[in-house]
Amino acid sequence: MRVLLLGGTAEARELAAELGEHEVIVSLAGALSAPHPVVGEVRFGGFGGADGLADYLRAHAVEAVIDATHPFASRISGNAALACARTSIPLLRLERPSWAEREDASSWHWVDDLAAARVRAEELGSRILLAVGRQSLTAFDGWRPGLVVARAIEPPAFTLPDGWLLVRGRGPFALADELALLREHRIEVLAAKDSGGPTTAKLDAAAELGVALVMVRRPPAPDGVAAVASVAEAQRWLAQTRRSR
Ligand SMILES: NC(=O)c1ccc[n+]([C@@H]2O[C@H](COP(=O)([O-])OP(=O)(O)OC[C@H]3O[C@@H](n4cnc5c(N)ncnc54)[C@H](OP(=O)(O)O)[C@@H]3O)[C@@H](O)[C@H]2O)c1
Repeated sequence: MRVLLLGGTAEARELAAELGEHEVIVSLAGALSAPHPVVGEVRFGGFGGADGLADYLRAHAVEAVIDATHPFASRISGNAALACARTSIPLLRLERPSWAEREDASSWHWVDDLAAARVRAEELGSRILLAVGRQSLTAFDGWRPGLVVARAIEPPAFTLPDGWLLVRGRGPFALADELALLREHRIEVLAAKDSGGPTTAKLDAAAELGVALVMVRRPPAPDGVAAVASVAEAQRWLAQTRRSR
């Protein structure tokens, strides 16, 4: 089958590597200058909204779409839902499990968005580790609560305010490294998004050191889209979709 895999996540890369029997086009937003290598044909950049994506699906005779984008990439997921509904192309959402089910999740400070995270974090302390991803750092531009350690793969698009320190890094991170980072900067508050999945070292380190954790809830997923939480389930869905054509 000709499959469009909307990527930008580790799960998308894992799935792309398992779909050798299909013709897979992996789509990346093009936000990073040096993305991880991906198996298969790769295209970069936006489609031009839901209409542009629908045109792309028709023009490339796509037979199934798997949206394996990040849980916080809600625009592309919404566009995929609209475009697939309009073109009657089967769509699956592959989304890694939320961290909300962790035992210690009830002790975190849950907020609805990045603006609320900014307010809540400042109430909880003045030495803050921002581990929200490069693009989301924009919501904190100009913020000066004390010390801000901003961890990101690449520098943000704005000039770092006074009192900020950029720590460049690409996960997954080891627990020992997360503990060292929190200790080195005497971090009081960790602000993060509920990205979910198996990479939990920053959460474990915060718990161990009693660092307050401000967690941004996921945006709602588009209505009516079939969803799975693992690469294996996505493979099964694709096999089933092929059989029922
Ligand atoms: N948000 C995060 O925290 C986060 C974290 C890690 C990785 N990522 C990855 O980074 C990418 C961008 O994230 P975002 O939060 O900016 O997304 P977003 O807000 O949902 O998307 C913004 C626009 O970028 C384009 N786009 C996004 N993902 C694309 C893809 N895989 N292929 C082609 N175009 C794409 C679309 O442009 P058009 O409307 O023009 O089609 C979309 O409307 C996503 O692919 C996501 O998987 C995001």
